[in-house]
Amino acid sequence: MTKNKAELHYDGKTLELPVLEGTEGELALDINKLRQESGLVTLDHGFMNTASCTSAITFLDGENGILRYRGYPIEELAEKSTFVEVAYLLVYGELPNVERLKWFKEKLNTFTATKPELKQLIQHFPKSAHPMGVLASVLSAMSAYYPEYLDPELKPDQVDNVIAQTMAQVKNFAAYNYRASQGQSLIDAKASNEYCTDFLAQMYGSNPDPEVAKALNILLILHADHEQNCSTSTVRLVGSSQANVYAAISSGVNALWGPLHGGANQAVIEMLQEIQADGGGYKKFILKAKDKNDNFRLMGFGHRVYKNFDPRAKIIKQACDAILTKLKIQDPLLDIAKGLEEEALKDPYFVERKLYPNVDFYSGIIYKALNIPTNMFTVMFALGRLPGWLAQWKEMNESPATKIGRPRQIYTGSTVRSYVPMDKRS
Ligand code: ACO
Repeated sequence: MTKNKAELHYDGKTLELPVLEGTEGELALDINKLRQESGLVTLDHGFMNTASCTSAITFLDGENGILRYRGYPIEELAEKSTFVEVAYLLVYGELPNVERLKWFKEKLNTFTATKPELKQLIQHFPKSAHPMGVLASVLSAMSAYYPEYLDPELKPDQVDNVIAQTMAQVKNFAAYNYRASQGQSLIDAKASNEYCTDFLAQMYGSNPDPEVAKALNILLILHADHEQNCSTSTVRLVGSSQANVYAAISSGVNALWGPLHGGANQAVIEMLQEIQADGGGYKKFILKAKDKNDNFRLMGFGHRVYKNFDPRAKIIKQACDAILTKLKIQDPLLDIAKGLEEEALKDPYFVERKLYPNVDFYSGIIYKALNIPTNMFTVMFALGRLPGWLAQWKEMNESPATKIGRPRQIYTGSTVRSYVPMDKRS
C-alpha cells in the first residue's frame, strides 16, 4: 500500500512517514511509529483528519457525493436490492446468490423468538420512556441471557449466529417497545414475511401495502452503513476492548441517539413543526441558524464528510415524494421542508460553509407517512444501521491490525501541587 513517504523535520531530526493509498486513491500519512520515534503525538479535535482503521466495507467520497457498499453504488442498491440482501453484502462482502440468501434468511428466522424475560423487561419500562434508551438497555441485557456469545474468541459459526440473532431481535425489540408504549399486546415475528413487511406487521397488526414495505426497505438500505461515523466508531472502540457484541452494539445505539447524529431525524420533524406553528415562514429560522449567539441549528443540514451533497438525501427526497403520492398524503411539513431547503441553499452562509440537506432532512417525513411515531425515528435509523455496525465489528475482530482503542491527550491541567488541608483552603 505504500506509494510514497513524507518527511517530518523536528528538533533537528528527520522522520520518514509512509504515505498509504487506499483502493480509491485516498492518501494517508501512516503515523503508527510517530510517538515511538519522535516523542510527539497528534492533536485532532473530533478526529477530523484521523483514519482510525482500514476497512473494506464502505467507500464514501464527501466532495463528490459518492457512497458505495462493498463497491456497489448506493443508488443501485436502493433501487434494486432489499435490506436483507444489503445486510448480507455488508457483513459477508459479496451479494448473496440464491442459496446464500436462503441460508441468511433461515439464519434470521432461527433467531426470531424473543425470551419472555426480555419481553417482560420491555414491558416494564414507563410508557413514556424514549425508545432509544429502551433499545440500548435491552440490547445490553441480552448479555445476561446468551452467555455463549460473550467469549471474545467466538468461532465463525457463532459469529454468524450472533449477527443474525441481533438483527432478528432488534426488529422485535423496536416493534415490541412501540406496542408496549401503546398498552397493546406484543406481536411476534412471522418467518414467512419479508423483514421490513414483518416489522410493520409487528407494529400495526397487519401486513403493509407492498409499496410501503418497499419504502422502508429503501430507507433502511440508505442507513445501513456509513463508514467510521460517531456510532460506528463507538461500536469499534467498545468492541476493541473485547467487550461482547451486545455491549458494543448497545453503545452504538447510545452514540446514535444524539441530535448531532441519528437523533437529527426526530429533531428535524420537531423543527418543521415549530416552523409550522410559528406560521410557516422560514426567514426567522434561517436567521436564527446563522446567529452565532443562538444555539439553534438547521437540523438535517450539514455533514462532517459530505461537502457537496449527501447522495442519500437525494434518494430520500424522491422516495418521499413517491410514497406521499402513493398514500395520497398531503403533508404541509414536506412543503415547509422543501421551501426551507430552497431558501437555505440560496443563502451565502450555507453556500460558503457547504451545508446541504443530509439523510435526516427528509427521512422523518417518510417515517411520519408510515405512521411511525416521532420518538421512534432514531430507532428506525438504528434498525437500518445495525448490519453496518455488525459488519464493522466483525471486520475489526478479524483484522490482525486491531488494537484496543486508546487515544492520547494533551494535558492542560495544573502541574504538580501539594494537598491543602481544609482549614487552609480559601
Ligand atoms: N445550521 C447552521 N449552521 C451550521 C449547521 C447547521 N445545521 N451545521 C454546521 N453549521 C456551521 C457551523 O456553525 C460552523 O460555522 P462556523 O465555521 O462559522 O463556525 C460551520 O457550519 C461548520 O460546522 P461544524 O459544526 O464545525 O461542522 P461539523 O463537521 O463539526 O458538524 C454536523 C457536522 C454535526 C452534522 C453539523 O453540520 C450539524 O450540527 N448539523 C445539524 C445536525 C444534523 O443534521 N445532524 C445529522 C448529521 S447526519 C448523521 O449523523 C446521520
